Amino acid sequence: MRIDALPDGPPSQRWHVLGDELVTVRPARPEDAGRIGEYIRGLSFASRYRRFLGPVNELAPADLHRMTHGNDAAPPALIVETGDGDARTVIGEARYAFDGIACEFALSVSDAWRGRGVGTLLMGIMEERAKLRGAHYLVGDILRSNQPMLALAHKLGFAVTRPVLDDSLFKVTKCLSRLDAVQTLNEGLSRELPVAA
Ligand SMILES: CC(C)(COP(=O)(O)OP(=O)(O)OC[C@H]1O[C@@H](n2cnc3c(N)ncnc32)[C@H](O)[C@@H]1OP(=O)(O)O)[C@@H](O)C(=O)NCCC(=O)NCCS
Repeated sequence: MRIDALPDGPPSQRWHVLGDELVTVRPARPEDAGRIGEYIRGLSFASRYRRFLGPVNELAPADLHRMTHGNDAAPPALIVETGDGDARTVIGEARYAFDGIACEFALSVSDAWRGRGVGTLLMGIMEERAKLRGAHYLVGDILRSNQPMLALAHKLGFAVTRPVLDDSLFKVTKCLSRLDAVQTLNEGLSRELPVAA
């Protein structure tokens, strides 16, 4: 897999994903609300369930507003698109929000674009942005049955723990600062001990 940044920089970044196919990653804008809503409706029920940790058919206007405007804790969503102009299609989205020293993420990739590096690309961008904002940890809640996301998190070096209050979830945590990484290893969250009760 080859992913190269092209030099046109934020807010619109172009990347190669697998061979000649180009995708754009950029923060969502207010006028994207309709297209993001359509993208979410186009995901399979299982994908939406995994993304939102429950049965969601479509996003409420308030959710779309948050995704396209952001707020103090969370920047606008990142969206991944193919095509140009009116032919643009949303093929992935990611949200990240800051809570003290942690940055929490959630993302999805369209069913047709799975396994081509889009999820890895979004995770990498969120990690960079979390570091820039000074977050010490990148964290996410993942359904225990969500093997693709757990595999992706494992591949990217996240430690996996079981939240005390919700049996259906794993929490994945990646330390973004060296000091915290040492501390986390001392607390037994190393990759040799992937699941701590
Ligand atoms: C999880 C998800 C985002 C992965 O996106 P993706 O673009 O397919 O991921 P990538 O192509 O970057 O895959 C990277 C790694 O993830 C793992 N992975 C991805 N899909 C997998 C699958 N179906 N089975 C097992 N591992 C998988 C692999 O380790 C893969 O590395 P490899 O290609 O070297 O084997 C996507 O499956 C998705 O949108 N799922 C529904 C929503 C969701 O679960 N969101 C997570 C909530 S936080």
